[in-house]
Amino acid sequence: MGSIQTETIVDQPNSKAAGLKLYALQGSYGDFRDDLARDGYAVVKGAIPKDRADSYASTMFSYLEDFGLGFDRNDLSTATEEHLPIINEKGMCMNYGLAHEKFMWDIRTEAGVTEVFEKVYGTEDLLVSFDAANFTFPNRTDIPPNKPWPHQDQDPEKPGFRCLQGLVNLLPNGPNDGGLIVCKGGHLLSEEFHDAFRGKETRIHQWTNEWYGFKEDGMKWLKDHGTEWVKVCAEPGDLLIWDSRTPHYNLSSTSSSPRFCVYTCYMPVSDATQEDLIRKKAAFEAFLGTTHWPNAMHSGSNVAKRNGVPDPHNRDRPETLPVLNEKGFKLTGIPYIKA
Ligand SMILES: [Fe+2]
Repeated sequence: MGSIQTETIVDQPNSKAAGLKLYALQGSYGDFRDDLARDGYAVVKGAIPKDRADSYASTMFSYLEDFGLGFDRNDLSTATEEHLPIINEKGMCMNYGLAHEKFMWDIRTEAGVTEVFEKVYGTEDLLVSFDAANFTFPNRTDIPPNKPWPHQDQDPEKPGFRCLQGLVNLLPNGPNDGGLIVCKGGHLLSEEFHDAFRGKETRIHQWTNEWYGFKEDGMKWLKDHGTEWVKVCAEPGDLLIWDSRTPHYNLSSTSSSPRFCVYTCYMPVSDATQEDLIRKKAAFEAFLGTTHWPNAMHSGSNVAKRNGVPDPHNRDRPETLPVLNEKGFKLTGIPYIKA
C-alpha cells in the first residue's frame, strides 16, 4: 500500500493560496492512484452508477429547455445561442446561479466522487469548488471555434502536487465527441519545463497566477521530451481526475454527440485559511461560482452578457435550490468557520 505524505510549502506573502500544501502519491496502490501518479490523470470508472448518471444528464437537458428559449434535446439544430443560456466556445456555462443548482450539488456529494478525493488527500474533511458545467454541442457555428488553449492550472512558481482537479462525465464520450485532452506524464516534467522557460518568454496573459498557458515552443519542448497528448474517453458516470500541473485543454465534438460534464474539484479544509472560508461562505450565500479552486480563491458573477449587455434571462439564484445533506454542508466549508 502507498501512503500520503504532506509537506508545508513556503508561504507566499499576499497569496490567498498561502496555506496550500504539497501532496505526494508514493508506492503502489492497485487503483486509480497508480495511473494518477504515473500519467498525471486517471479515469475512475462508474464513480456514479449509470442509471443516476443518465438521470443527471436528463436533468441537465431539462435545465437548458426550462430557460424557455426554444432549445429541444430532440432537435439539436436548436442548440444555438438564441435558444440557450450563454455557453462559451469551450462549452462552459458559468452564470445564472448554475454552480448551486440542485443537480450540481447532488453530483458533488456522490459518495463515489468524494471518496476518490478522500483517498488522494487522506482526509474526509474537504472543500468542494463551486464550479461550472459543460454543455458542448456539436457543429455549432454561432459561437467562435474552440481553439486549443493548452494550460496548467497551477502557478509555475509553486511546484509540486498541490491540487487534484476533476470532472464527472455524463454522456457517452468517445474519441470524436469532444472533451478533455491531457499531456500524459506532463506533471512530472513541470518543474524542469518551467526552469527551462523561466524569464525567457513573454507569457500568455493570465487572469490568475494559478494558470500558465503553453505556447508553440512550449508544446515543442513537451513533444521533444517524449510526451503525448491523449484524448480521455469516458462513459456516463465516470470521474476524470488530473493533477493541476498536467497540461490540458478541451476539444469540441466533431461527431453528432453532445458532451455534458460537471467540474468537481476538492481540497482539504486544512489547506484553506479562515479568510478563505469566510470568502467561500459569501460565495455560497450569493450562489456564485468559484472556478475550480475549492478555497474560493476567485469568485465569479451571475451576470451573463448576451450581445454585450446583461442577459435578460439572468438569474441570481438557482432554478432548483440545492438540498444539502451533512456532507454537502461540510463541503461548503461553513461548519469549519471559527466563531
Ligand atoms: Fe484547466
